[in-house]
Amino acid sequence: MGGIGKAMTRNLVLSGRLDEPLIIYNRTRSRAEEHSASIGHSTVAATIEDAVSCSDIIWSCLQDDEAVEFSFAQILRVDVTGKLFVDSSSVTPEVTDRIAQRILKAGGNLSLCRVFMGEPSMAEKRLLTCIAAGAPGSVDRIRPFVVGVVGRALIDLSGEEPGKASLLKLMGNVLIMNTMETVAELNVFAEKCGVGVQSMKKLLDQVFPNTPHSIYNHRMLSGGYYRDTPIVEVSKALKLTAHVLELAKSSGASVKGYEAAVDHLKVVEDQAGEDADITGIYGAVRLESGLPFKNETQ
Ligand SMILES: NC(=O)c1ccc[n+]([C@@H]2O[C@H](COP(=O)([O-])OP(=O)(O)OC[C@H]3O[C@@H](n4cnc5c(N)ncnc54)[C@H](OP(=O)(O)O)[C@@H]3O)[C@@H](O)[C@H]2O)c1
Repeated sequence: MGGIGKAMTRNLVLSGRLDEPLIIYNRTRSRAEEHSASIGHSTVAATIEDAVSCSDIIWSCLQDDEAVEFSFAQILRVDVTGKLFVDSSSVTPEVTDRIAQRILKAGGNLSLCRVFMGEPSMAEKRLLTCIAAGAPGSVDRIRPFVVGVVGRALIDLSGEEPGKASLLKLMGNVLIMNTMETVAELNVFAEKCGVGVQSMKKLLDQVFPNTPHSIYNHRMLSGGYYRDTPIVEVSKALKLTAHVLELAKSSGASVKGYEAAVDHLKVVEDQAGEDADITGIYGAVRLESGLPFKNETQ
């Protein structure tokens, strides 16, 4: 029941045409109960085993490798024959493939539905881009619950190993971090050279309307990067960026723009703590340019 899990389950209940109530499980049960009461047409399972036993499709959206490994160790104590697992957690391709093998061996199937370009406000508006991989039949089974229900687009990697969806999602992280880095640098440059951030906003809004550029720009200029609930906490992002850098290194790819963004994330953690938002990259670029980390709200 993080920001993405909450938005996805709400949209599944609202538009998934579910015959039966959605069964929700969360490690911290009170969060599941509160959320279930708010979305309706859902029940809360007491244990993960209970949730899995009485479901055909089990959709998970967990924090990281550790949470996924821990949860699937519990899940696989249950008979999973014929059950379809859909995982939207951002985890490494290695963990994905390892879990997929274990599910397959136990008689179930895993389809990946990685969430990309999905900060919680986009998830709420069904603007997620989802990347699906796994056996073609498994991807077809989840298709009715993706486009127009939890997201706006499905990048279909049917027939590919589940880990491929994780790889593409990791590379999507490069796109996102580089976008934040670009917007942060442009705003600081505009402020330093006298053009001003409001003129820069006009340019960005014209060239990239309704894109992540404008969402990140709003968080930067409004001061949301140090005031609002984080899109993603910097400590979580840094775990993921370490995987991406390893992947780039092992495949011989040069990702210098991404490395700059990662260095700025480290500055954000030093300056504002591990729970600071990743759009704090703006504050890091400001510091590097002789400006205070926090802007005056504009
Ligand atoms: N936020 C974004 O912008 C964004 C965008 C794209 C993809 N994603 C990915 O989507 C996934 C979910 O993200 P999110 O922002 O919704 O929430 P999140 O904070 O990353 O994950 C929260 C969920 O993971 C559970 N959890 C954490 N550690 C656990 C453990 N050791 N054992 C069992 N459960 C554990 C939490 O349970 P409790 O409630 O008990 O803590 C909660 O249900 C992540 O992999 C994230 O990287 C996020």
